[in-house]
Amino acid sequence: MIRKAIFPVGGLGTRFLPATKAMPKEMLPVVDKPLIQYAVEEAADAGIEEFIFVTGRNKTAIEDHFDHSFELESTLAAKGKREALTLVKNMMHNPGSVMYVRQQQPAGLGHAVWCARHLIGDEPVVVLLADDLILGKSCVREMVEAYQGGNMVAVMNVPEDQTGSYGIVTPGADDGRVVDVKGLIEKPAPADAPSNIAVVGRYIIAPQVFETLSSQERGASGEIQLTDALAKQIGSAPFHGLRFSGERFDCGSKLGFLQANLAFGMSNTDLAPDLKAWMQERLK
Ligand code: G1P
Repeated sequence: MIRKAIFPVGGLGTRFLPATKAMPKEMLPVVDKPLIQYAVEEAADAGIEEFIFVTGRNKTAIEDHFDHSFELESTLAAKGKREALTLVKNMMHNPGSVMYVRQQQPAGLGHAVWCARHLIGDEPVVVLLADDLILGKSCVREMVEAYQGGNMVAVMNVPEDQTGSYGIVTPGADDGRVVDVKGLIEKPAPADAPSNIAVVGRYIIAPQVFETLSSQERGASGEIQLTDALAKQIGSAPFHGLRFSGERFDCGSKLGFLQANLAFGMSNTDLAPDLKAWMQERLK
């Protein structure tokens, strides 16, 4: 039912300089895979067939990553490295199903999503932020399964002093998993926050959101916010938050990125025994 996903990857990644000077932040690896590939695999696991990247300058490494590398493939074949060859070949999607559109200026998440409008028809679409890395079951899959029309966001409860880093929900009916979204505000100070229920970077958005975004209204930080466009749909379409089952890591921060590497390393059967033993020794 939901076939398309948008991946906004135009951000500068200034928090990871100098690592991101010549490399997109979405290509930073957690264990052995770049952040953007985790997001693409999560979407594919939910049945997504079309992958739309909203890129910016210096992002060609992402395009190359999701394309054939003939030199690499022929070298691996010549050296008989079958496992590595299968791995890189299996990454390929159907020809024409990976699309790129350039966001000409960093004018906010809402603007990035709006830049993909010509590639979206009259259908709901998923938006994934690769910074939010989720360990466990595909969050997008859980959302698609729970989707009841209109708009949906993944949510999690955050410490009250952190509301200023997230879109925050005014909750209505809440069964502990699905919460009715009665209001949504971008990055409120703790004193102004309607709750501590925060939006994590996974959305299902209805086509009407693109119409709202076309007004190009600026919100928090002077940017065109997806949060504001979603908030405007409240009352005219269903809007739900889903508490997903996986564990989310904020890979837009150094601490979150390090935690993700350790957690994914510990869930990797090849690495886990030695990594755990080393950490135990180190923490003594
Ligand atoms: C974006 C959204 C915010 C959301 C967050 C999740 O903010 O604007 O509403 O809670 O992603 O990671 P950013 O972290 O890109 O500033």
